[in-house]
Amino acid sequence: MLQLDVMLKNAEREILSATDMKKIEELKVQYLGKKGELTQVLRGMSALAPEDRPAAGKAANDAREKLNQLFSDAEKIISDKAVKERLYEERLDVTVPGRKQDIGHTHPLTQVIRKIENIFIGLGYQIAEGPEVESVHYNFDQLNAPDNHPSRDEQDTFYFDAEKLLRTQTSPVQARVMENNAPPIRIICPGRVYRADEVDATHSPIFHQIEALVVDKDITMGNLVATLKLFAKEMFGEETEVRLRPHYFPFTEPSAEVDVSCWVCKGKGCPVCKYEGFIEILGAGMVHPNVLRNCGIDPDIYSGFAFGLGVERTAMAVFGINDLRLFYENDARFLSQF
Ligand code: DAH
Repeated sequence: MLQLDVMLKNAEREILSATDMKKIEELKVQYLGKKGELTQVLRGMSALAPEDRPAAGKAANDAREKLNQLFSDAEKIISDKAVKERLYEERLDVTVPGRKQDIGHTHPLTQVIRKIENIFIGLGYQIAEGPEVESVHYNFDQLNAPDNHPSRDEQDTFYFDAEKLLRTQTSPVQARVMENNAPPIRIICPGRVYRADEVDATHSPIFHQIEALVVDKDITMGNLVATLKLFAKEMFGEETEVRLRPHYFPFTEPSAEVDVSCWVCKGKGCPVCKYEGFIEILGAGMVHPNVLRNCGIDPDIYSGFAFGLGVERTAMAVFGINDLRLFYENDARFLSQF
């Protein structure tokens, strides 16, 4: 009995001071295992007188129960503590300020393209598209470009082979649309174009144009000028003036380069318009009868106008940017300003 008492006291002390399950398992082996201390005590009972055995047996059983109770209490305490610690370690401090997500926006070039698209969609135009890998046939031949036209030169154009190239302008889409649609035609075509230019503040081998084409009966230069004026006022402001200067393009006759009055100085002269008062934004003209004919449209019945606008040039002027490379560097500090 005394032996049992001593063992229980020791066991209680050790179990209560255990701080993890590993220690508990060790103690279980030590006290309850096959060679454990309780078993030793039970073995010693064979030496007792028969009349003493029942009391001793009961005491041994009580001791076993007591040990089991001590172990299960200790296990509960240890596992509760582990749960508490884990909850504490993995707690979320909902008062910590969140990490800010930067939400982007459309690129300034896309903004300009969308704005122009919307103006023309409002006028009943449709958006057309054409391939960037284009044929000599559509990029030059159908557009009435003479065989010796400088833009055909390898110095200026990226050729894949004698027949295939990266389109140098969005104008080939005019020919594709006319071949596949009967007038009336009213389309604009935004897209990427390519030229073998060195990169500098105003040149890039890749840039964007927006082409426009209208073909119907009785389309005149008056319609072209009215359309350009309306577009310029929507795009740059109500007071904007439009100026046409005679020019040459193979696919239009007559042809013009088109300037709009500077929306910063209203035509007086300032750094944005380089003190010209006007800014050139596009080329335009009446579709050449040869082009209509090439595309299966009878120039005796139909006429049309077309123009092609430089997106980068327009965006630079609209946003007051003096270096086109900024559009392509994707520096968020630049892009976030627009
Ligand atoms: N394709 C011409 C260019 O890249 C721009 C142009 C001029 C387009 C006159 C036209 C036009 O449709 O009528 O320089």
